Amino acid sequence: MSKVTIVGAGNVGATCADAIAFRKIASEVVLLDIRENFAEGKALDMMQTATLNGFDTRVSGSTNDYAKTAGSDVVVITSGIPRKPGMTREELIGINAGIVKGVTENILKHSPNAIIVVVSNPMDTMTFLALTESKLPKNRIIGMGGILDSARFKCYLSLALNCSPNDVEGMVIGGHGDTTMIPLTRLASYKGVPVSQFLSAEALQKVAADTMVGGATLTGMLGTSAWYAPGAAVASLVDSILNDQKKLFPCCVSLNGEYGQKDICLGVPVVIGKNGWESIVDVKLNADEQAAFAKSAEAVRNMNTVLSTINA
Ligand code: NAI
Ligand code: 2OP
Repeated sequence: MSKVTIVGAGNVGATCADAIAFRKIASEVVLLDIRENFAEGKALDMMQTATLNGFDTRVSGSTNDYAKTAGSDVVVITSGIPRKPGMTREELIGINAGIVKGVTENILKHSPNAIIVVVSNPMDTMTFLALTESKLPKNRIIGMGGILDSARFKCYLSLALNCSPNDVEGMVIGGHGDTTMIPLTRLASYKGVPVSQFLSAEALQKVAADTMVGGATLTGMLGTSAWYAPGAAVASLVDSILNDQKKLFPCCVSLNGEYGQKDICLGVPVVIGKNGWESIVDVKLNADEQAAFAKSAEAVRNMNTVLSTINA
């Protein structure tokens, strides 16, 4: 038996719930939203796909009643406003900080042992907020951004290589922001062979640039932020936690000297299992990558200081 609560039944939250049920990742999913009957409606619609898609996951909805979330193993926070065209993720901080703080308090009253996955933007700062507000052991707070950014990176690489996305490996570390993420092009591979053997430096630069504005590109096209890949990325993270898969994912976690940073939550490769993030993998970065990571940390740290000026 495994229970997942998803707070926020909007685009990302609902897509995530759907992916968890469809992929049979958990036995129970509770969707919670403040909009009257919204989560209940989405959950009922999903339950009506059970016989069509062949899953037994019980999906239910709740209008802000946290009692229904009691005993969750994992809680995903997607509540908050998404960005509109032209907005950065960082501009969402004022509203989303208040939401994430309140939601974190409510979750823990009913699921004191849950692992918390933070999705709401600006995600690195919201993860830091959830960690400091909850005072939970650091391994139980995980921000999701790098899995999505890496999926986008691999997608753009496969398009440039004209190959199957599943034959491509690659990782994006650092902050989940247009200018703070770091696609590790040097380490990306096509079936284990460095992609630099197939793509020119210019082509790789374009892949990295497209990846970094991957979210903004979709926001421009859709009028709001994306949901299919974000929802699927969270589902993969939840799968590795609940099923103790020990997958290596870039996730936003609390650093204590690793990668030269402390007192910050930032995206680094971590092993994800039943205890949350279980260890940080120390990838040897070259000088340019180290400099980019330090710059990313500085930007996220500046955003974190904004938190203290907000009466969240
Ligand atoms: P959405 O607007 O479709 O859904 C958000 C939902 O949260 C709404 O249904 C709203 O009623 C609900 N909500 C607001 N306050 C709440 C509260 N206090 N308690 C419970 N529910 C509440 O937005 P969408 O597209 O699902 O995005 C959600 C968040 O995720 C945004 O902040 C967005 O920027 C972020 N995001 C993060 C990604 C990542 O990789 N970390 C990727 C995509 C989106
Ligand atoms: C995304 O990357 C905006 O964080 C959101 O699509």
